[in-house]
Amino acid sequence: MTDFVEKRDVTTDQPGQLARRVHPETWHEQWTDLNHFLMVYKFGLAEINTKITILAEELTHRGSGNPIEHVSPRLKSPASITAKAHRLNCPLHFDDLRSRIRDIAGIRIVCSFVSDVYTVANMLTRQPDVNLVVTKDYIARPKPNGYRSLHLIVEIPVFMSDRVVAVPVEVQLRTVAMDFWASLEHKIYYKHDPDVVPPRLRDELTAAAEDAARLDVRMERLHREIHGPRR
Ligand code: GTP
Ligand code: MG
Repeated sequence: MTDFVEKRDVTTDQPGQLARRVHPETWHEQWTDLNHFLMVYKFGLAEINTKITILAEELTHRGSGNPIEHVSPRLKSPASITAKAHRLNCPLHFDDLRSRIRDIAGIRIVCSFVSDVYTVANMLTRQPDVNLVVTKDYIARPKPNGYRSLHLIVEIPVFMSDRVVAVPVEVQLRTVAMDFWASLEHKIYYKHDPDVVPPRLRDELTAAAEDAARLDVRMERLHREIHGPRR
């Protein structure tokens, strides 16, 4: 596989400018290489998505309630891959991108309660073909801005015609309350220029994350008092 990026000479490009620098004479080849590069991530994502769908359906039938509220898989766009490569000082070559950027395939699993986050994470990672590579527990240790979620990097085998590829997938697990906060904080602030948002408002966003965490505790207690612990 050729390095589409080198042919385009985008090593000097700014993030997000890929589309404007396409060379018409090699465009088709570059596009094919990029699709080939992204293909295994698409398959890895489909594999994990199927596993989550199976868990959700099976748990619904087990009678103790489905702990999964919703699931959103996403493939990182070429523009986001390029932007992250620039941030990491990672050369724009497929081998480097493959080894340095571990969230090209990502899936977010939104659960009802905090305990469900860990239950679902365990159910997924104890499957023999799921290899847990990294755990970042931002629920046990929230980020300074209040961000909470459980992040896993797992590798899943994808069976191609002539080889097996261990595809990394970033799995983000969080509660509905954590998701509510993170989605809106993303719009309001995340990755924006810190100088634009005054410290008072940043503190208020952090306080809102703590409100959401209290709501999680309260809703889980209410659920337990009414239904008993999940089996
Ligand atoms: P990225 O370069 O953003 O992928 O970060 P990273 O590779 O250092 O990993 P990290 O675990 O910090 O974050 C991965 C992903 O979690 C991000 O892409 C976001 O989707 C989410 N995330 C992390 N921190 C925050 C945050 O403070 N606010 C929000 N809204 N989302 C966050
Ligand atoms: Mg990311």
